[in-house]
Formats: sequence, structure tokens, C-alpha cells
Amino acid sequence: MTPPILPGQPYFAYRDNALFAEDVRISELTRSHGTPLFIYSKTAMLSALASYQRGFAGRDAQICYAMKANSSLAVLQVFARAGCGFDIVSGGELERVQAAGGDLKKVIFSGVGKTRLEMRQALGAGIGCFNVESEAELDVLSEVAASLKLRAPVSIRVNPNVDPKTHPYISTGLKGSKFGIAHEDALRIYQHAASLPGLEVVGIDCHIGSQITETTPYLDAVDRMLDLVAAIEAAGIFLKHIDFGGGLGINYSADDMPPEAESLWKQLLVKIDARGYGNKKLMVEPGRSLVGNAGICVTEVLYLKPGEQKNFCVIDAAMNDLPRPAMYQAFHAIVPTQRPAEEKAGITYDVVGPVCESGDWIGCDRLLSVAAGDQLAVMSAGAYCMSMASNYNTRGRAAEILVEGAEVHVIRLRETSASTFQNEKLLP
Ligand code: LLP
Repeated sequence: MTPPILPGQPYFAYRDNALFAEDVRISELTRSHGTPLFIYSKTAMLSALASYQRGFAGRDAQICYAMKANSSLAVLQVFARAGCGFDIVSGGELERVQAAGGDLKKVIFSGVGKTRLEMRQALGAGIGCFNVESEAELDVLSEVAASLKLRAPVSIRVNPNVDPKTHPYISTGLKGSKFGIAHEDALRIYQHAASLPGLEVVGIDCHIGSQITETTPYLDAVDRMLDLVAAIEAAGIFLKHIDFGGGLGINYSADDMPPEAESLWKQLLVKIDARGYGNKKLMVEPGRSLVGNAGICVTEVLYLKPGEQKNFCVIDAAMNDLPRPAMYQAFHAIVPTQRPAEEKAGITYDVVGPVCESGDWIGCDRLLSVAAGDQLAVMSAGAYCMSMASNYNTRGRAAEILVEGAEVHVIRLRETSASTFQNEKLLP
């Protein structure tokens, strides 16, 4: 019986019907560490990164891992040691980069709501660039930097106004989005930035959305951005770098066919070269495409609950561990960690968690042949799962394991219930 093609293959694959992460049998990990359990493949992360590195070979390029996708310290270490910078969106993320030993000069700070405190913290740390998202933020940043007798390196996030053709909650580069500034205001705002005493204009950036599986939105965004670079430089403001953001999608299912980072960037570079900007420093901020298919979440089937209209498969992972289905109706493949030796007829289930919400589903209408006590792997769980996990229903966050070959590292201990309320105070 041929096993199905899995997202995350070959780093997550069946050997004699048992699911492995690299050279480690999943059931051995859950025996020692319990469920729900996030399991990551370091080789999968480095291989995803290598695709970008090949795409930018021979260029002055900086890959800044968008750590909001997965900010676990050991994951940051993997990318820091491989030479990546980081795209951060809070003072908290900056502290994580520091704790993981990342190069602060390669940190860029995105986000629409940076506080003065975060600005001071990032200036003190000597980060590489602030990706500023509004005119008001430019004024405040200049004031904060000038008060410290510093000049903040800035890039302005511009909305190229192209449709990334993805879920509306993760489209960001369109008019009407809270992110960035409008394309038509860019030149005026760059001139304003260049006049402020506490700023040094160093670049321009955009980010059009996430889980983009087509090449056209990128090609359009590059054109729109390069038009602006030409206009800004014609006005006498030199830009050292162009940052094209993140957004490249992954194959959650066989229907998703995103381009490889390498081929996408080779195509985009042809355009960038043709327009004469190939010698600038080029930056990207990938998140999901570096980690999404480098992780899975393994869960145990607690109960099977047949019903008149629906059958439910109740598992021990929930929307607090895997929030993407509830938030974006996202699809994650769900497969057994041990496949039956003989093909068995399956039953269609909604796979749901124990949280008291009807929205707490992980997969709808999935054909499974399972029994209580079996384990299932929720695939493509490396991005925007643990980093978005919560303690809703006072559920401790899951443990995390990073595998490399046959080596196993526990990178996060399972949270105890007590630790979920350790900062709370009883009334006198
Ligand atoms: N740069 C900026 C400025 C961003 O806002 C983001 C993601 C990225 C880079 C990285 O994008 P990526 O390469 O990962 O697509 N929670 C949602 C995704 C939210 C993305 C937010 N911004 C999800 O689970 O689909």
C-alpha cells in the first residue's frame, strides 16, 4: 500500500508504515514526551533556507527570518547560526533574538504600532533598520532617536497595491490595509523622512501578504517598488537596500503549488537586473516558507463520537495549540503516525479539540481509519502554530522537539497548568 505524499516530505515520511521525523520514529518521541507534541526537522528548515540562498547566490542579499512564524529560541538559533537576520515586530521578539545570540545589526523592526519604549530598546541594541509604517511613526522615531543623540536607520513600508490572491486576513499590500503607506504618498513621505534630524533613510520595503502561491503578485510588486525607487532616488534620496518582504506560501495540500524560493527569486532578479537595481542590497523577510513544512503537531485520539449528521474524532490538541483552522479556515493535512498494514475502509470525521467552542476544529470531513488511543500528525505545523498558541481553557502549551538526523533535542518543556497562572494574584 503506497503511503500518501506528505507536506514536509522527505523530512517527515513513512518508513514501513511508521511516520518518522528525519531518522526518529514519531511514536518514540510521543512515548517519552507525550502529546500534543510539536516536532521540527532542522534539516527541513535549513533546506528551505538553502533554496533562498541559491536564489540569491552571488548577490548582496540579506535574508531576515520573520520570526513571528515560529519564535522558539532554538529555531532562532538555527537561523542565526546559518547567517540569517531577523524581522521582528516587538520588543519581546528583539529580546528573543538577543537570547538566541542573533546578529542585531541584521535585525529589522516591522509593525504599525512600535512604542517609544520599543524604539529606545531597538536603538540601544543597534538594530539594522526600522521598517516604518506611517508618517506619524517617522516623527516619533526621529524624536526618540534625536533625544538619544542617534540617527535611526529607516526604510518606509510602501503598499504596492497588488492583490496577493490569498486569505483576506493575511493580505496586507492592498489599499485599505492598516499596513504601510500608500504608493502615491511615498515620495512626499520619503522627502519628509529625509528632512528629519533623527533619521537616516537607508531603504524601502513592502510586504504584500502571506501564503502567496502565485508568482504574478510578486512580479507586479517588484515593478511598482522599482518605479518608486527610481522616483525617490531622482529626488536625491539614496536607498541602500530594497526589502521585498515575505509571503511565499507552502503546500498545505496538493492543491497549493507555490513556486520554489530559488526559482521565484531567479525570475524576480531578472526583472530587477533589467531595471538596473541588481547591485543594490536586496532583502527578504520570509517566515512560513522557512518553517511551515518543517514542523508537525502530534496528537492522540481521545474519543470517537459518531453522530447523525457528523462523526467527530476528538483529539488532545485544540485551537489553542493550532489556531489556524479556527482563525482562517485553514487546511492542515492530518495523517496517522502508524498506517495500517492493510488498507481499511475509513470513516469521515470532523477532527476537533477539547476546547469549549464550536470553532475548535482542526480538520473538517477527513476520511480516517482510527481508534481511540491512536496518534495523528497535523502536518505543516511549523509556522504560526506554537507562536500563536494560547492558554485558552487553561491548557498549558505543548512541548517542542527539534530533530536532526537521529539526534533529538527538547527545545520547549510542556507548560504546567500552574505555570499558566503564575503571574496572577489572589485577592487579600
Ligand atoms: N514581513 C512582514 C512585514 C509580515 O507582516 C509578515 C507576516 C512576514 C514578513 C512573513 O510572512 P510569511 O513569509 O510568513 O508569509 N498568522 C497567519 C499569517 C500572518 C502573517 C503576518 N505577517 C497565518 O497563520 O496564516
